[in-house]
Amino acid sequence: MFIAAALLLFSEPSFGQRVDECLDCHLSLDTPQAIKFKFDVHRKKGLSCADCHGGNKRSDDMDVAMSKSAGFLGVPKTNEISERCGKCHNDEEKMRSYGYTGPTGQYDNLLASVHGEGSTTAGENIAQCTTCHGAHGVRKVSDPKSPVSPLNVVGTCARCHDDPGYMRQYNPSLPTDQLSKYRTSVHGLLHAKKDPKVATCVSCHTAHTIKPPDDATSSIYAENIPTTCGRCHSDPEYMASYHIPTDQVEQYRKSVHGIALLEKHDASAPTCNDCHGNHGAFPPGVESISNVCGTCHALNAELFRKSPHKKVFDERNLPECETCHGNHDIQPATIEMISVEKGGLCARCHSSSSNPKGYKAALAMRSLLDSLVSSYANAERLLDVAEQKGMEVEDERFALRDVNQVRLQARTAVHAFNLAKFHETVDKGLKIAEDTKAAGRAAIDEFYFRRWGLAVATLIITFLVIVLFLYIKKIERKPNTT
Ligand code: HEC
Ligand code: HEC
Ligand code: HEC
Ligand code: HEC
Ligand code: HEC
Ligand code: HEC
Ligand code: HEC
Ligand code: HEC
Ligand code: HEC
Ligand code: HEC
Ligand code: HEC
Repeated sequence: MFIAAALLLFSEPSFGQRVDECLDCHLSLDTPQAIKFKFDVHRKKGLSCADCHGGNKRSDDMDVAMSKSAGFLGVPKTNEISERCGKCHNDEEKMRSYGYTGPTGQYDNLLASVHGEGSTTAGENIAQCTTCHGAHGVRKVSDPKSPVSPLNVVGTCARCHDDPGYMRQYNPSLPTDQLSKYRTSVHGLLHAKKDPKVATCVSCHTAHTIKPPDDATSSIYAENIPTTCGRCHSDPEYMASYHIPTDQVEQYRKSVHGIALLEKHDASAPTCNDCHGNHGAFPPGVESISNVCGTCHALNAELFRKSPHKKVFDERNLPECETCHGNHDIQPATIEMISVEKGGLCARCHSSSSNPKGYKAALAMRSLLDSLVSSYANAERLLDVAEQKGMEVEDERFALRDVNQVRLQARTAVHAFNLAKFHETVDKGLKIAEDTKAAGRAAIDEFYFRRWGLAVATLIITFLVIVLFLYIKKIERKPNTT
């Protein structure tokens, strides 16, 4: 064993003149840590056992080499372990002096993360550096044998997260199904086929700055998720070999959902994982799409499922909501969507010759909505006129608001794709609008009636004044004649 290890060790020429009595003696003792150290990234950089354990690496006398006076620290325990790694890895200047160009600060990051000491009542880190990297035989991340290389890291995280017994000690309510769900996702399926480019636990969670989803600095905070997924999905070069679109994030940002979440900070709007799942990141399959949309838009989904479209969409394997609304570029719904004109949404399947029942229904539905909109506008205009003339129309305006309410109900009611029912809904609004129009007209009539009344009264009064005036003149003239 010793010979084999020593041979391997000294077969590397650059370490010919290296002095490391710690390693030499421990190799001769077959100390397991020393054997593992052969592959260690630190050893390859010329570091010694003494760089972590202290002591004098130039002495071949164990009592000298491992003495307190030589600075021997012994075996670190609990948080001391990470502190010791942090002595170098947290010190950017020191790391650069070794010619290392990678990131630093892992120690500070770990302490501030969910795995840091603040997370436990014991005041001890949940994970030390060595939990994920090991202590001896530490490898570069890019080394396929590293426990944190893309193909291995999933198992490293799952060692704890897939162990309900262990996790219960810390947080009994935290699910422990991440690995099993991940395995069903497109990411997990390709990962199992040794594809190192798909998302692993750390692509979404980071390695050292892992934070819970409600922390605004977390990579999985709702508003940060598009950026997290976009690191790969918006990079055409990275995704080139997969032949799928790379515009999801861009489109999402411009969609009604993206604007609601990212610009209006409306937490009820969906981000990527609300539709794709956290760990089972499948594209929502045809069957499940309306289930996903329906978790928020329950009424639309319920009406759709009872509609005549349900059956025909299923037969053609068309997704329920996406067929009309899209997925990442969902825009505010408007009346223009109900259209059998060339290029119109309904015209995709309905014309006077193909699927004509829906064609006629679509025409009728649109014209009902157009009437509702124009009746509303007319009613409002009449009330405006009446108001300008000084008539009191507050009650009528209040009643007219119900038409808006009906317009909103109709937007949802569309999804029943049932003309008779749609008629019922819209008719209520049309009736209110007509009543309001009538009231508006009556108010205006009243105004003219009053104005004519005033004119006549003025005329009569003027006439009377003139008569009175003439009469007074006549009386005034009388004494002269006498
Ligand atoms: C000449 C041989 C020899 C040299 C040189 C030597 N050691 Fe050891 N070391 C031993 C032996 C033997 C033990 C086990 C004895 C014991 O358990 O106390 C040991 C134990 C250890 C332990 C485990 C201590 C514990 O508390 O479990 C560490 C860590 C260690 N050595 C590190 C070092 C470092 C670092 C150096 C160089 C600065 C070094 N050794 C140099 C022979 C050596
Ligand atoms: C990168 C830092 C680092 C280097 C380099 C390093 N060790 Fe360690 N060693 C540790 C840490 C951390 C522990 C305690 C935690 C553990 O065992 O995971 C430890 C533990 C040990 C133990 C005790 C194991 C036990 O179970 O009690 C021995 C023995 C040991 N090291 C020997 C060595 C020898 C010999 C070398 C050089 C060949 C060496 N170490 C190099 C960090 C290091
Ligand atoms: C929960 C597991 C875990 C813990 C704990 C952990 N690391 Fe890491 N570390 C990783 C993973 C995973 C990567 C690879 C990151 C990647 O692929 O981007 C990594 C990468 C690294 C790298 C390469 C540079 C980088 O940041 O990507 C260094 C250096 C490193 N870790 C040091 C440490 C040190 C020092 C500690 C303790 C303070 C530590 N790690 C704690 C999982 C961990
Ligand atoms: C004496 C300083 C020092 C100590 C202490 C130290 N390291 Fe390192 N570590 C380095 C240097 C220097 C490198 C860069 C090696 C290279 O460039 O190839 C490195 C590289 C690494 C890497 C690979 C980084 C990559 O980019 O892939 C990991 C992981 C790592 N160390 C983890 C640890 C862990 C875990 C500990 C504690 C048990 C530790 N280090 C203690 C100096 C140190
Ligand atoms: C040593 C066991 C262990 C390892 C290894 C580990 N974790 Fe954890 N992780 C925990 C524990 C324990 C918690 C804290 C649970 C709590 O208190 O909420 C936690 C918390 C988390 C959380 C926050 C959950 C929440 O919402 O509060 C995430 C995310 C997480 N870990 C991801 C990872 C990833 C990714 C890896 C691999 C790089 C990993 N963990 C490796 C034990 C571990
Ligand atoms: C494609 C991105 C992605 C991958 C890959 C991923 N996660 Fe997650 N993870 C998330 C998101 C997003 C959340 C939850 C956000 C929320 O609740 O709003 C989450 C939540 C968690 C939680 C908190 C508890 C829970 O299940 O909600 C833990 C723990 C966790 N992940 C661990 C892991 C582990 C371990 C792996 C690897 C097996 C992994 N994650 C892989 C994105 C991912
Ligand atoms: C590390 C890069 C990376 C990250 C980060 C990432 N993905 Fe992926 N994702 C991929 C790769 C590579 C594929 C495989 C593409 C393929 O063949 O379908 C994929 C596939 C998918 C698929 C299946 C696509 C299909 O129809 O085949 C979905 C859905 C998906 N990812 C969603 C997400 C979501 C949501 C997030 C963020 C929570 C995310 N991904 C984060 C790399 C990544
Ligand atoms: C409102 C729900 C919803 C949201 C939010 C959403 N997606 Fe999708 N996504 C879908 C649907 C539906 C599909 C199509 C699935 C199918 O056709 O089988 C899809 C497909 C995909 C695909 C497969 C390739 C493609 O474009 O068809 C990827 C990758 C993807 N989404 C990533 C993302 C990312 C990244 C985000 C966040 C920016 C995101 N999605 C947000 C519903 C959503
Ligand atoms: C056949 C096409 C079609 C399908 C399929 C469809 N919609 Fe709609 N949707 C429309 C039209 C048209 C409007 C706008 C009506 C209007 O403005 O009068 C609309 C409006 C909406 C609105 C805004 C109005 C409201 O209710 O708040 C939402 C949300 C909505 N749809 C969700 C869904 C969901 C969820 C599904 C799947 C269960 C779905 N839609 C399926 C055509 C469709
Ligand atoms: C997590 C909840 C959630 C999910 C899942 C969701 N939505 Fe939405 N959706 C919202 C919210 C909130 C709004 C309102 C955004 C705003 O206007 O402020 C909205 C708005 C809309 C609108 C525009 C309504 C309007 O008034 O014009 C349509 C259309 C829509 N969603 C369709 C869908 C479809 C289709 C899906 C599935 C592919 C889906 N939504 C999934 C929450 C969700
Ligand atoms: C993906 C194709 C498709 C789209 C898009 C589509 N439909 Fe249909 N629709 C059908 C099919 C197929 C039928 C059943 C055959 C028929 O109508 O003659 C149907 C039936 C209907 C019916 C039931 C007719 C009845 O009396 O049984 C209505 C109402 C309807 N569609 C309205 C609409 C409206 C409004 C739109 C646009 C917002 C629309 N459809 C968009 C395919 C579609």
